[in-house]
Amino acid sequence: VDQKIYTASTTAPVNIAVIKYWGKRDTALNLPTNSSLSVTLSQKDLRTHTTASCSASFESDTLHLNGELQNISGPRQTACFRELRSLRAALEAADPSLPKLSTYKLHIVSENNFPTAAGLASSAAGFAALVRAIADLYELPQNPTELSRIARQGSGSACRSLFGGYVAWEQGEKIDGSDSLAVEIAPASHWPDMKAAILVVSAAKKGVSSTSGMQATVATSSLFPHRARVVVPQRMEEMIKAIKERDFETFADLTMKDSNSFHSVCLDTSPPIFYMNDVSKAAIRVVEELNRVSGRKIAAYTFDAGPNAVIYYLEKDEALVLGVLKGGLEHVPGFAVSGTAAIPEEYDAS
Ligand code: PMV
Repeated sequence: VDQKIYTASTTAPVNIAVIKYWGKRDTALNLPTNSSLSVTLSQKDLRTHTTASCSASFESDTLHLNGELQNISGPRQTACFRELRSLRAALEAADPSLPKLSTYKLHIVSENNFPTAAGLASSAAGFAALVRAIADLYELPQNPTELSRIARQGSGSACRSLFGGYVAWEQGEKIDGSDSLAVEIAPASHWPDMKAAILVVSAAKKGVSSTSGMQATVATSSLFPHRARVVVPQRMEEMIKAIKERDFETFADLTMKDSNSFHSVCLDTSPPIFYMNDVSKAAIRVVEELNRVSGRKIAAYTFDAGPNAVIYYLEKDEALVLGVLKGGLEHVPGFAVSGTAAIPEEYDAS
């Protein structure tokens, strides 16, 4: 009997969308109603570290997150485990000398170095790290785009965390989701002076999960079809062009507009969903005012399914942007911590 414990460790970064994913056309496969685009943040500040082990002696699949045993019987985790095992089983079938890891139970241990489920994209880093750790453990030959198809089934936005830099998730057309994948638009090194600051307004868990929020929006918002079919496809093209040309003003304009469009369809959901709070809105006012006074867009805010802000800016404007944010917000009750995340750091997804 094989007594060995096989193990592999990896980290995956958080990504923050500048064109938001909001709406599923297939809830089981996490197929989106529109394409989306994100920037991967530095792993120094925000990342999930995951170790995957398997052994013939393990009795069940388990996952510990930040030291706590998680329920992994849900369809998202099950789908990731099943898909990865079947890729491993194909390798084992082709080469009978390989140990039969696909038949062994898995023990997964994950740690986040940031608040979980507070709109800081913890599920994105979490599922990306889970998929990569198991793929490494199984020595799978699949590239990040191919693995993104699996990570997507864990959490939609996770497919984008398999790459560094600027990443598009192409919605795809097929009903089996085989073409709903993440692709790199540009590596982080393409725009080395891009930076992000994170305003942690609240580390509390979010009120409405992204899955139930999306379903409610798709079912009830009359603004939503216009966003998904008209606004976002156009914006994706403009955003890809802005990134390729390193045009920060256009990048900032599109980022803020898309965040506001996403929160508008949330407000247009019935009953309405509010992810931003008064501190979030104060941050919007500070950035809008800074851009107005500067006569150019030097900072861009974006908010996910929670009240925390991510502010993008260029390194040369760092002192001004962070100074104004701090000065403008320190008197606002509830404004707690701010951290910065440098983006230019190559992420080796191989
Ligand atoms: O991946 P999910 O199901 O947690 O959804 C993420 C949704 C947003 O963060 C609001 C937008 C996005 O594109 O990441």
